[in-house]
Amino acid sequence: MLAGFVLSALVGVISNWAAPSTIVVIRWTAPLADEATSSLFSVPRYAVGPVGLGLTTRPPMGWNGFNRFQRSVTAAMVEAEARALVASGMKAAGYNYVNLDGGWNLHKRDSSGNLQPDPAKFPQGIKPVADYVHSLGLKFGIYASAGTENCASTSAGSYGHYRQDAAMFASWGVDYLKLDWCHIPFKNYPHAPRRVVSRVLAMEMADAISVTGRAMVYDLNDWMNTEPWSSAPGLANLWRTAPDIQDRYSSMLQNFTKNVKHFEHAGPGGWNDPDMLEVGNGGMSIIEYQSEFSLWAEMAAPLIAGNDLTKMSAITKSILTNQAIIAIDQDPLGRQGYPVSSIGGHWVLTKPLANGNRAVVLFNQTSTAATISTTATLIGLGSAAEYSKLDLWTGTMTETPGTISATLPAHGAVFYEIAEIMAPPFTS
Ligand code: GAL
Repeated sequence: MLAGFVLSALVGVISNWAAPSTIVVIRWTAPLADEATSSLFSVPRYAVGPVGLGLTTRPPMGWNGFNRFQRSVTAAMVEAEARALVASGMKAAGYNYVNLDGGWNLHKRDSSGNLQPDPAKFPQGIKPVADYVHSLGLKFGIYASAGTENCASTSAGSYGHYRQDAAMFASWGVDYLKLDWCHIPFKNYPHAPRRVVSRVLAMEMADAISVTGRAMVYDLNDWMNTEPWSSAPGLANLWRTAPDIQDRYSSMLQNFTKNVKHFEHAGPGGWNDPDMLEVGNGGMSIIEYQSEFSLWAEMAAPLIAGNDLTKMSAITKSILTNQAIIAIDQDPLGRQGYPVSSIGGHWVLTKPLANGNRAVVLFNQTSTAATISTTATLIGLGSAAEYSKLDLWTGTMTETPGTISATLPAHGAVFYEIAEIMAPPFTS
């Protein structure tokens, strides 16, 4: 292998660290059984992902300031939100990442080429903020752009500095890196498709994280170029499947419908991400926020709250901390729920659970009330004389011979856990 080159057998791409615009695409004529034992090349193991796929055996949970505060988050705000995460019971419910999003750094690097935190927002830099978050028993996440700038062109991107930036993040104690896809200089690679360039850059940051030796959740935000649901499993811990969510029903619905179809690609280690939650931000009704939380949990989506935790209403808290629904999201089997039917916007979704039961969401996408029905057989259970039906929002348990049905308001959802009731053994 030539010095300075990196090979990924996953996609058959060689890239050159010394001259990043060099990409050689190889077409394999024979499959490589195991990249580590290939005799053709000496292949680094990090091509199968950064150090931490084991960090996300369950979908990550936490808080991020972007949905509520966009790029105006400061050190004091991060610390207040982290305190509120603990005080509100969110941490106890499983939310443990506190993630800084775009806007934390200046547009210029310093004379050594390091990213510079905005001194107006982070007067002591990032490390003391990360230390504070850690002191509360929480984890700390940060944002970078794979290109030359962030999307808003207000901050420097990491392009050409992946190893330097990853080393800096590791020295600050970063546990989670969201890598955004803005201002990628595709023109530097005139002969390679965007998909290949993006894939190589994603691998280069995976490598950069890996060489730091610090375990970081790797969150890829490139839903536009690479179809990450098929290319990112094994490389990243989660990947966006849809545009930026907005705090309104039509946007939430769009991100749900884009994410739900990639159910085959999610599983322990790597998750489809329909974007952060809007629950509690005020632009949707309680019914719509309950639908968002139900759909995200059914899809085993990362649960990253995006509201102001310091001013959270009781109803918002009760949605975000619903233990029964969080347990479905975090179910150890790690299956994403999939559609059984969606005719006319009347959705039936089923999610196999580790205990053999099914988590079922009936969701009325439409703007008129509707009755949605399915059966135990259609949602994938075996035949039984009776089934138990636990309503995960109300805690009410009932029995049914097999029909599962609910009358739902516009935009409403119900969430059930359905189990076969075993007949007692026959005794004469
Ligand atoms: C977008 C990204 C958002 C947020 C924002 C920050 O590109 O999709 O999730 O990170 O940048 O500027």
